[in-house]
Amino acid sequence: MSEIAARLAELKQLGLYRRTRLVSGPQGPHVLLDGKPVLLLCSNNYLGLADHERVQEAAAAAALRWGVGAGSSRLVSGTMTIHRRLEQRLAAFKGTESALLFGSGYLANLGVVGALSGAGEVVFSDELNHASIIDGCRLSRAETFVYAHNDVEHLAWGLAQAGPRASLIVTESVFSMDGDVAPLEEISDLARRHRGVRVVVDEAHATGCVGPGGRGAVAEAGLDGEIDVVIGTLGKALGAYGAFAACDHEMAALLTNTARPLIFSTAPPPPAVAGALAALDLVEESPRRVDRLRANAEVLRAELAREGFDVAGSSTQIIPLVVGDAGTAMRVCEAALERGVFAQAIRPPTVPSGTSRLRLAVMATHTKDELREAAHVLGRAALQAGLRPATATATATAMAVAQEAARAPGVVDFAHEADAA
Ligand SMILES: Cc1ncc(COP(=O)(O)O)c(C=O)c1O
Repeated sequence: MSEIAARLAELKQLGLYRRTRLVSGPQGPHVLLDGKPVLLLCSNNYLGLADHERVQEAAAAAALRWGVGAGSSRLVSGTMTIHRRLEQRLAAFKGTESALLFGSGYLANLGVVGALSGAGEVVFSDELNHASIIDGCRLSRAETFVYAHNDVEHLAWGLAQAGPRASLIVTESVFSMDGDVAPLEEISDLARRHRGVRVVVDEAHATGCVGPGGRGAVAEAGLDGEIDVVIGTLGKALGAYGAFAACDHEMAALLTNTARPLIFSTAPPPPAVAGALAALDLVEESPRRVDRLRANAEVLRAELAREGFDVAGSSTQIIPLVVGDAGTAMRVCEAALERGVFAQAIRPPTVPSGTSRLRLAVMATHTKDELREAAHVLGRAALQAGLRPATATATATAMAVAQEAARAPGVVDFAHEADAA
């Protein structure tokens, strides 16, 4: 057996083997998955804008006007009028002086964390942060203090230990795999008390989904202009591809000069940029879409609770059903698929070991009846997989608390143990 075959066999044996599934048609509430019609309950196309007519038309028109590719990195000839226009609109949407487009959220996190910390410094990162933040920490060559999920006391303790070497706190606002929200006010207060410590907030799953008019959790917390860099993606609620860092002019100039993925990677393609611009128009014109997303998430949470699932941990459109074991999560996923509901099982290293789950993602374009029916299907799928819904929880917080209890008090982790993706 080759080394590669042995590694693949090991992944299969651990229940961690992955394959891509094939979706026909756009990311709507209903898709053909590997040829079978299913209700799609795991797409980040939260507002249903990826195939909205106006977004499609804007992208198509941009391809005709500016071409399909940007042809160059931002600093060479890749900053086109359409990029600048979207940057201005995103800055206004996020309440910052400036916004800088990046190729993707992954690249934005690598670039921003890498630009704001370096060797000899300490970055503070929530233990459930996304893989792109973790990789940004690693690439920065700074030490990483991984604080317990949303645990401001642990963060404060770490800041005190690091003293003047503390450089950056980085957190998601809406956590991608848990659907809970970071204590942004407390984090911002802590940073203010430690002079020189900056805060980066990744609003990948908050932009377009939470806060006033979908402006995000930072706006919801009344922290407009108080966070050093707010990152958002164009590939989720805004239905396109790419990302941005919203910040003040000085920070934008620093990132333009030092964020390596902005300097060394091709600028986002004009059709994606124009599509995101049209999506932003739609979000601003009709906040009802954001309201519908919230109302739909509430319906699904209520129905899941009725089925016996513990859904208390999520307050957003992301609702995880934490099963624990990877194999069981796959069995629940397959049983739901047989009944026509697609909610992807998420396993390590995307989530910490022992917290495998089904990650449900609500869309504004689901009907309430579809969500009610999906909750029943998931309840039956759980039973078929030998799991009582009451033992599956909507949050990893319980697991995080258990992990924290198992950890010796005061231990400092200098690397993330699990990669989120
Ligand atoms: C919290 C978070 N940040 C960043 C990203 C990466 O964004 P993108 O898909 O635009 O690379 C993701 C993607 O899943 C995410 O969940």
